[in-house]
Amino acid sequence: MSWDTVRLEWDGDVATLTVDRPDALNALNIETLEAMGEALEEAAAEGARALVLTGAGDAFIAGADIKYMQDLSTAEGEEWGALGHDVADALEAFPAPTIAAINGYAFGGGCEMAMACDLRVAAESALIGNTEIDLGIIPGWGATQRLPRLVGDETARRMIFLGERLDAESAAEAGLIGEVVPDDELEDVVGELADQIAAKPAFAMQTAKQAINQTHEGSQESGIAYEKRAFASLFGTHDQREGMAAFVEDREPDFE
Ligand code: CAA
Repeated sequence: MSWDTVRLEWDGDVATLTVDRPDALNALNIETLEAMGEALEEAAAEGARALVLTGAGDAFIAGADIKYMQDLSTAEGEEWGALGHDVADALEAFPAPTIAAINGYAFGGGCEMAMACDLRVAAESALIGNTEIDLGIIPGWGATQRLPRLVGDETARRMIFLGERLDAESAAEAGLIGEVVPDDELEDVVGELADQIAAKPAFAMQTAKQAINQTHEGSQESGIAYEKRAFASLFGTHDQREGMAAFVEDREPDFE
């Protein structure tokens, strides 16, 4: 499929989803959110082994579309919130690792889409934060839950209460960003990371992601129980056998 405000491109098994509304700094409106949802479904169905999320032009995603939001009623706001959550949840549940390549502004809902990815790499000039408080709202697509997990409770409260716009280095120090790179190296660094991930055994990769995602559900006890089952389920698979045999035989594995 093709969409007006989203592009889905492939490099081998790596899919790149680019939000493409540069005139609005890639702010997310209904059309773009729906397109993102469809693109994620398509990338999953076609077997992406890694997915990169990025923005066209100079911004990553400057947030939810404020022009659209400004007149929403409570009921409309509820629908709108749910639509954004669906996309963030689809990123979180995507069957392969996702990497946010943060090439510029990542504010509000943009920061939240980045947080729903597995990994975040930012260009050093990027600015990041949950700025909603200054619009009289709160983060609507998951930051109240995902941000404390990434940066800790106190720092998350501070960032959300103040609507801080952090530079990439400060966001990395806080734990929101995994890696900061020079602007002109972002694409190459993320491409290499995605290629490395895509070359690993796919079923084990998916299982690892699902197991880690369990830390977001219920208690640690239930997460550990889930991990135990998931871990055990991999024994006897081709890739487990091959991966361990290759280690023992000191050769490169030939994964399925
Ligand atoms: N929604 C709609 N349009 C946006 C937008 C947004 N979030 N961010 C930028 N734009 C539009 C601007 O209105 C402008 O459009 P026009 O040319 O038609 O006027 C265009 O993009 C370029 O923006 P600026 O002229 O403002 O560019 P700048 O370089 O001076 O500033 C910026 C860039 C600092 C990112 C500034 O645009 C800004 O502060 N944007 C808002 C960021 C924000 O608060 N995001 C959070 C939104 S709330 C949210 O996301 C809720 C949620 O959790 C679901």
